[in-house]
Amino acid sequence: MTLPASAIPAAPKENEPVNAVNENAAMLALLARRRSTKIAHFAEPGPSPDQIDALIALSTRVPDHGKIGPWRFVVIDGDARARAGEALAQVIANDAGVDDARLAAARGIFLRAPSCVMVVSSPKPSPKVPEWEQFMSAGAACFALLLGAHAMGFAGAWITEWPAFDARARKALGLADHEQVAGFVYLGTAREPAIERVRATSEGRVTRF
Ligand SMILES: Cc1cc2nc3c(=O)[nH]c(=O)nc-3n(C[C@H](O)[C@H](O)[C@H](O)COP(=O)(O)O)c2cc1C
Repeated sequence: MTLPASAIPAAPKENEPVNAVNENAAMLALLARRRSTKIAHFAEPGPSPDQIDALIALSTRVPDHGKIGPWRFVVIDGDARARAGEALAQVIANDAGVDDARLAAARGIFLRAPSCVMVVSSPKPSPKVPEWEQFMSAGAACFALLLGAHAMGFAGAWITEWPAFDARARKALGLADHEQVAGFVYLGTAREPAIERVRATSEGRVTRF
């Protein structure tokens, strides 16, 4: 069971008082227990176009110094998954050592889940907001997308993999030279429940000044 896009309240209008900060046990439980889904464990159904649009709209509410909006979102779902994968396969087709298995993996990369939202870090020249802050806002957008998807009832995973680090692949996916992939956020339904993993905790990572 997933929640429809209509379950999400409207965003406040500019200058409207916002009363969104209150006790929210469900939100705390989500943060305490959230887990990504392994890419091999994704299955249908994925979010509908309406649900994806709603999740992206939520993700644009991340902290954004200077109201720059230093991110954009590229939805890769349905038939576009094969088209985007084919574009990546063409990128590596003539590289040394690339065999049929690697080509097939590139072709199928976006077919591993029902949908993927590529979150693009798209920094803008700014006299007051360093690029570093703009990159972090794009990372926050990835996490907001992931959390929103979980709250809507979908499995998700924020990964990068080689296309994020190959300039040719970024170009093939439509990114400009100054843009980076903040994340490919895969969305769908988990074939099996995620199992907790070893993770970095706050132990040894907190000091008080
Ligand atoms: C920017 C970024 C890129 C990541 N890229 C990958 C990746 O390419 N492959 C991968 O297995 N996990 C990647 N991860 C880690 C997963 O998102 C995830 O955190 C991990 O699988 C652990 O699951 P958890 O989110 O439940 O802790 C990345 C995380 C971040 C923040």
